[in-house]
Amino acid sequence: MAVIAFENVALSYEKNQHVFRDVSFKVEAGAFFYLMGPSGSGKTSLIRLLYAGNLDYEGDIHIFGRSLQDMRPDEIPELRQQIGVIFQDFYLLDHLNALDNVALPLRIQGQSWAAARKSAAEVLEWIGLTENLDALPATMSGGQRQRLVIARGIINRPRILIADEPTGNLDDENALKLLYLFEELNRQGTTILFATHNRELMRAFPHDILFLKDGALSIESDTQLHPHIRSVRHG
Ligand SMILES: Nc1ncnc2c1ncn2[C@@H]1O[C@H](COP(=O)(O)OP(=O)(O)OP(=O)(O)O)[C@@H](O)[C@H]1O
Ligand SMILES: [Mg+2]
Repeated sequence: MAVIAFENVALSYEKNQHVFRDVSFKVEAGAFFYLMGPSGSGKTSLIRLLYAGNLDYEGDIHIFGRSLQDMRPDEIPELRQQIGVIFQDFYLLDHLNALDNVALPLRIQGQSWAAARKSAAEVLEWIGLTENLDALPATMSGGQRQRLVIARGIINRPRILIADEPTGNLDDENALKLLYLFEELNRQGTTILFATHNRELMRAFPHDILFLKDGALSIESDTQLHPHIRSVRHG
C-alpha cells in the first residue's frame, strides 16, 4: 500500500510563483527514500504538506490512503500521531528536561506522566541518552539535542518518519550512528523520508532519492548511483 501519494501537486506561497508544480510520486509502506534538492528547492515545504501543516496546495495528496482535502479538521491530530517529524529547527521545550521532552507526545495522547516517562526512558536508553534524562536541552551538546529530537519523533512509533536535514548539526560519526538508527527503524517497518544534502551518507546507505529541482520532482534510483551495491544486496 502507498502510505504517501502525491498526484499533480503544485505549491505556491505567492500567486504565480510556484515552489513546485505537477509533482507526482508514491511511497510504499516500508520504503526508505532520501529527499534531495538545492537550498530553497522546497524540501521543507513538501514535508509540511505531508503532515497537513499546510493545506494550501493544488492537486491531490493521499496519506495512508486518505485524501487530505477530505479530512475533517478534527481528524488531523490523529493523522499527525502516525507521522513522526524531526524538524530542521529543533523545537525542544527549554523548561522541560530530556525525559519529559520525549514523554510529552505520549502525555498529550492521554497517557499518565508515569507511563509516558517509562516509555521515554526506554527510547532514550536505546538512543544512548541514559546519562542525560534530567538534563535541560540548553545544557546538552548539539549531537545530544539532535538525538533527543529523534527520540521525541519516534516515541509513539509512527508509521512514517520524516527527517528534515537531521544530520546538519552532527559530526560524521554521529551522522553515521543516526543512519544506523534509521535503518533499524526501517527494518522494523517504519517508512522513512530523509531530507539531506549529505552525499557521503547516501553512498554509505544507498536508497532511492526524490530529487526536487527547479519546481519539478524526479526519482533517482540507487541502481544508477550504486549498481554494484544493489546487485550485492539483491544477491
Ligand atoms: N512560509 C513561507 N512563506 C513564503 N515563502 C516561503 C515560506 N516557506 C518557504 N518559502 C519559500 O519557498 C521556497 C522553498 O523553501 P523551503 O524551505 O521549502 O526550501 P528547502 O528545500 O527546505 O531549503 P533548505 O535546503 O535551505 O532547507 C523558498 O524560496 C522559500 O523562500
Ligand atoms: Mg529546508
